[in-house]
Amino acid sequence: MPEKDRTSLTIRRPDDWHLHLRDGAMLQAVLPETARHFGRAIIMPNLVPPVVTAAQAAAYRDRIIAALPEGMKFTPLMTLYLTEATDPEDVRAAHAAGIATAVKLYPAGATTNSASGVRDFEQVRPVLDVMAEIGMPLCVHGEVTDHDIDIFDREAVFIDKILKPLRKKTPDLKVVMEHVTTQDAVDYVRDNPKNLAATITTHHLIINRNHILAGGIRPHFYCLPVAKREAHRIALVQAAISGDKRFFLGTDSAPHTDAAKLQSCGCAGIFTATNTMSCLAEVFEVAGQLNKLEAFASLNGPMFYGLPPSDDTITLTKGDPVPYPDSIETPDGPVTVFNPGFDLHWRVTG
Ligand code: NCD
Ligand code: ZN
Repeated sequence: MPEKDRTSLTIRRPDDWHLHLRDGAMLQAVLPETARHFGRAIIMPNLVPPVVTAAQAAAYRDRIIAALPEGMKFTPLMTLYLTEATDPEDVRAAHAAGIATAVKLYPAGATTNSASGVRDFEQVRPVLDVMAEIGMPLCVHGEVTDHDIDIFDREAVFIDKILKPLRKKTPDLKVVMEHVTTQDAVDYVRDNPKNLAATITTHHLIINRNHILAGGIRPHFYCLPVAKREAHRIALVQAAISGDKRFFLGTDSAPHTDAAKLQSCGCAGIFTATNTMSCLAEVFEVAGQLNKLEAFASLNGPMFYGLPPSDDTITLTKGDPVPYPDSIETPDGPVTVFNPGFDLHWRVTG
């Protein structure tokens, strides 16, 4: 059947390889939004205080599982927040016990709740060496934090200044460049096939920096890394639809209440959990590559992580525009759902 006539698509159940669930009441409110469609997710550890040790990750995993509504199946894959004081043997033990799937590297000060991140990369070398030895991936927030580097250049500079030397010193370390936003990152991943992959968010496939700034400032499109110019967005779409196994979905769905976003210094983060699969189906359909959605959302991620793909499926059906809510209610206040700016015709029906 020609792609354009397709009205139904069944794919393996997708996974989200970069997700913020928070804790407490917010966790309770946002978890079903992801668990409704996704089988597994890599859970970001940037709580306050951060999830640093195996014991903290195990306790957080228990809180996530306890917050899951009855009848929903979902597997949280935990990460440890890398600090300069992280004990390599704790990381080894967390991995061996199946408590932690990956370690998360935040350059100190790069984004929301990253103050305990890494300043001196030599300090974490023993941890990286252990991870390379045991095959545990490092998830990287790839932005430098130097104040004299323009915010739109921070990802490209990170690749040259930090990532290339780091990978040269530890070539056996598996690295996921998370939420890539530039042609530079796409090129770097595509041209370096060994032990390197990248996640791409839903929103970076849809918005560019004009969406944030032209015709008024729109805090609900502000996230980090900040969206770049249109040519970069197109490069991300090309990578996502290419079928290249090293590019896969990590939504970076990052809930903040409207009160936290809509102020003179608002938080970075876009909440996409609710409508991600509809958004992606629309993007892939417009690109004429609906048949590549399964690779991007359901197959490439598990392959890189050395996990089997889901043996379950979901079905997306095309029809009248899906009426998603503008926001979801939480006990802390409303959280605005990402508005892609176009109608979403695909809904998850099974
Ligand atoms: C994330 C958050 O809110 O925790 N924010 C964001 O803009 N993506 C942190 C992050 O992943 O950078
Ligand atoms: Zn994130």
